[in-house]
Amino acid sequence: MEVIRTIKALKQKVAEAKEKNKSVGLVPTMGALHQGHISLVERARKDNDVVVVSVFVNPTQFNNPEDLRTYPRTEEADCALLEKAGVDYAFIPSVEEVYPEPDTRRFDLGPVAEVMEGAMRPGHFNGVAQIVSKLFDMVQPHRAYFGEKDFQQIAVIRKMAQICGFDIDIIDCPIKREADGLAMSSRNVRLTPHQREVAPAIHKVLSESVAMKNSNSVEEVKKFVTDSINSVDEMEVEYYEIVDPLTMQPIEKWEDAVNGNPVGCVTVYCGNVRLIDNIKY
Ligand code: PAF
Repeated sequence: MEVIRTIKALKQKVAEAKEKNKSVGLVPTMGALHQGHISLVERARKDNDVVVVSVFVNPTQFNNPEDLRTYPRTEEADCALLEKAGVDYAFIPSVEEVYPEPDTRRFDLGPVAEVMEGAMRPGHFNGVAQIVSKLFDMVQPHRAYFGEKDFQQIAVIRKMAQICGFDIDIIDCPIKREADGLAMSSRNVRLTPHQREVAPAIHKVLSESVAMKNSNSVEEVKKFVTDSINSVDEMEVEYYEIVDPLTMQPIEKWEDAVNGNPVGCVTVYCGNVRLIDNIKY
């Protein structure tokens, strides 16, 4: 595996691969890698001749400076994991390399970006669109891989790709969980031992709520999930929405999800650690 730190070198390597008619897969990450990321890399490895993984804590998508400051940065361990997973190129640029000038682009992402994370984290999705569009532009991969834990993010990235006219297959990969059900996340390392012990309640409650679909209204299921998680020590639900899987718009009746199974999306503060998860109904 080669570590690349400049856009020029990255473009050169990708151009060499494409000259040889090789397919290129991109896995964008913010580092602090875990098995969830590695599952994306494995999928990319299977689908493509050349795999590029970017490791970049993107400042423009953090609406909370404290979150940006304390975001885990573990470059050495990340490189060891990527090497083992058979990555060809790890692109690890500095902030100055990616943003030599402030990025003032405003993406008109529409309704998919206005609800849930979009409502709670102003500017977050615009920042995601900025960095992912830059990465798409630099690499112009055949395929790009994203985890379904950030369910809404995938819809936003698809919208950005459509606006910008990128001809890239955007591939969503299932959530990876710890043995006790907690969705893998780089933020899990911030949990205290007690918070780590109670955090699996999120997935447990969501799973239990699936069986309620046949005999309960959307509102009743939302109340069950919210009340059950809130009753756990140190946990507070920020939002729980059940949405159409394509438009991300909250539904009121189960049949309002016209594009497939409804998806329940939750954000929970466990102490001061913000965790997200989701489940298909
Ligand atoms: O999901 C993430 O880790 C980030 O939002 C992404 C897609 C790498 C953009 O910085």
